[in-house]
Amino acid sequence: MENKRIINPETSVQDINSEISLRPRKFTDYVGQKRIKETLSIAIKAAKQRSESLDHTLLYGPPGLGKTTLAHVISHEMKSLIKVTSGPAIEKAGDLVAILTRLQKGDILFIDEIHRLNKISEEVLYSAMEEYRVSWVIEEGLKARSVNLGIQPFTLIGATTKFGMLSAPLRDRFGSVYRLDFYSDTEISDILFRSAKILKITADNKGLKEIAIRSRKTPRIANRLLRRVRDFSEVQSNGKINAEITKKALDQLEVDNLGLDKIDVEFLLSLVTKFNGGPVGLQTLAASISEDSNTVEDVIEPFLLNLGFISRTNRGRIATQLAYKHLGINIEDKPTQGNLLN
Ligand SMILES: Nc1ncnc2c1ncn2[C@@H]1O[C@H](COP(=O)(O)OP(=O)(O)O)[C@@H](O)[C@H]1O
Ligand SMILES: [Mg+2]
Repeated sequence: MENKRIINPETSVQDINSEISLRPRKFTDYVGQKRIKETLSIAIKAAKQRSESLDHTLLYGPPGLGKTTLAHVISHEMKSLIKVTSGPAIEKAGDLVAILTRLQKGDILFIDEIHRLNKISEEVLYSAMEEYRVSWVIEEGLKARSVNLGIQPFTLIGATTKFGMLSAPLRDRFGSVYRLDFYSDTEISDILFRSAKILKITADNKGLKEIAIRSRKTPRIANRLLRRVRDFSEVQSNGKINAEITKKALDQLEVDNLGLDKIDVEFLLSLVTKFNGGPVGLQTLAASISEDSNTVEDVIEPFLLNLGFISRTNRGRIATQLAYKHLGINIEDKPTQGNLLN
C-alpha cells in the first residue's frame, strides 16, 4: 500500500530516472538548507586548501529532503570520486572490507541507511574512520585469524532517517553532523521552477506555487507531483500547468490543500476519534490504521509534527488543536494535554 501513495517521500520505481536528471550536482543548484551549505562550503574549502579529505559527515532527516543529493554535491565540490552503498547492501563485514580497501586517497564512501549496518560491519568502520585501518576476523573456529590492514584516507558520508538508531560510538566518529530540514514553500517553488525547465514543462508561477504548497515541504514529492500534474494537463487540457489544472489534478489524486492524503487523515482521525486525541503509544496507533510503526514514524509523523498537528509526549502521541481544526472536529470536550516533549 505504502508505495502507491503519491505523497510517499520515499523513492518509487517511477522516480528513479527522473530523479537522476533532476538531481542538482553543484551547491549553486542545491536549493535551501542555507546553514548546512554555508558550513559545508567552508569545511570543503579548508579541506581542499590543506589537501586533506573532508571530515566524516553524517546527514540525517526524513526521506526525500536531499541527503543523497547532498552527498553527491559534496563529492562534486571536493572533486572526489564517490562510491555508493547502503547499510542493508553490506551483508557481511567482508563486503565492507572489500570496499574500504579499494578506496583511493580522498575518495568519498557514501553509506545510505547507515543505521541498518550490521554490528560487525559497524565495528570494522570504527577503526577505518578513526585511523584508516581495517581489522577483522576471517575464517571461523580453529582457522580463525585476524587481519589488520591500512587503507587510504577517505571521507565517509553516512545518511539516515533514524538518527536515534545509530549507536553512540558510530555517531561520535563523525566530525560533522547535519540535520536536513523541511523546505519553505518558496524553496520548493524554486526547485519546481528548475525541474520544470529541465523537463521542458510549461508552467506559470501560480501553478508551481499550488504544487509547492501540497508537496509536504519535500523536494522528492514536489518533483513527483509536478510530473503527475503534467500528465493530467496533457490529457485533460493543453499540457500547460496553471493553478486551476493543478488543483483539479491534485484533488483527483486526493492530496489535500496541505499535502495530506487519505492515510494521513486516517491517522489523525484515528488519534482523535479512537483515542480521544491521545496520548497513545506509537504501536497502538499504527496498529489502529493497519500501518507498520516504522512507516508511521518515518513517513507519516515527521510532516504532521512539522505542521504542528501532533506532538510526541512522554506518554505517547497527541493531536493538537490545529489537527482538530483541519479535520473540522470540535475540541471542546477534550481534557487538557500533558507534558510536551517537542
Ligand atoms: N536542495 C535541493 N534542491 C533541489 N532539488 C533537490 C534538493 N534536495 C532534493 N532534491 C530533489 O529531490 C530528490 C530526492 O532527494 P534525495 O537526495 O534523493 O533525498 P533523500 O536522500 O534525503 O531521500 C532529488 O532527486 C532531487 O531532484
Ligand atoms: Mg537517499
